[in-house]
Amino acid sequence: MLKNIEQDLITALQPIRQMTLAICVNHFFETGIYRKLEKEATDAASMAKSLNLEQNRLVGFLNYLQNENLVAKDGDLYSVTAQAQQLATYSAWYTMLVGGYTQTFVQIGDCLKGEGKWATRDVGKVGIGSCGISHYDAIPLTKRLMGHMDAPPKNLLDLGCGNAMYLVEFCKTMPGLTAYGVEPSKDACVSAEKIIDQEGLSNRVKVINKNVRDFINSDHRWEPDVMVLGFILHEILGQEDEAGLIDFLKTVTNRYPKMNLIVIEVDNQINNPTIMEHGLSKAYYNPYYLIHEFTEQQLTTDQWWRELFAKCELDIVHQDYPDNEVDSTRLEIGYLLKRRA
Ligand SMILES: C[S@@+](CC[C@H](N)C(=O)[O-])C[C@H]1O[C@@H](n2cnc3c(N)ncnc32)[C@H](O)[C@@H]1O
Repeated sequence: MLKNIEQDLITALQPIRQMTLAICVNHFFETGIYRKLEKEATDAASMAKSLNLEQNRLVGFLNYLQNENLVAKDGDLYSVTAQAQQLATYSAWYTMLVGGYTQTFVQIGDCLKGEGKWATRDVGKVGIGSCGISHYDAIPLTKRLMGHMDAPPKNLLDLGCGNAMYLVEFCKTMPGLTAYGVEPSKDACVSAEKIIDQEGLSNRVKVINKNVRDFINSDHRWEPDVMVLGFILHEILGQEDEAGLIDFLKTVTNRYPKMNLIVIEVDNQINNPTIMEHGLSKAYYNPYYLIHEFTEQQLTTDQWWRELFAKCELDIVHQDYPDNEVDSTRLEIGYLLKRRA
């Protein structure tokens, strides 16, 4: 007689269920199906027509979501469930980790074989998703760090600005502020222009589609009093190594010696079993650390950043973390820096 393995099999297949679910939840958001159904219950034919989707496949997709309790059906009409609404609050995490990095996860096997090959990612989605996450953690943290500056900011420069969410959020709450963002991803810039326009901020926020190096070496006359580097220095570290990063920070601070710098980075604690037991470490930081091993970026530790800032003659004016209600791991760190007098 065959051993009864059914219960074991169900348990063993849960990662496959979760993988499918994560990817489909991201499609649910990205295709516009979620937004449409959230507004009003809709039948498949009208949804397919208005979103330009193939109706038969749409019905199959909705059936799948219904079985996962994300969509409900009443007669011909589909609507979103409370569970789907709860996920939608956190859709930015899906944009970054699923939209931006699914291709990275798939390439890990090949990259493990070496030869220095980097996995690819969708940089535009990474930038857009990261900004959406920052709305909850890094943007409030940046605002608190700004409170430790000698005077409120007037001219803000955001390097690696993604879809310019930082700039828009700051300009909305700080009436005197003007802002520039620099971002190499064309997709993120297009998304930024849309958001800036929707918010009626085109006269105060400008986005430049460039690499930070090209921007810093370009002939612009605008003088920022604060520069935000949100999750960007570890990108430059991966692209240019430590000497390149030091040169970058020195170039920037030579050009604007009085400027405040706000750096947001993630402390690499993947080897710390106590911290990695935290629920948010398991759900977010463990995959987050993993993707950085395989893409051209280099995460490092709080201690390493402190030493690097010292080498660049940057003093830490203040150090802070996201609100505990959002992230109590203390793995994300914000530094307010100023060039040594
Ligand atoms: C993790 S996202 C951070 C987005 C946003 N700053 C935030 O805090 O959420 C990193 C961003 O840096 C951008 N980036 C990467 N290398 C860059 C470079 N050399 N110059 C400018 N931006 C860069 C990426 O395109 C991406 O939008």
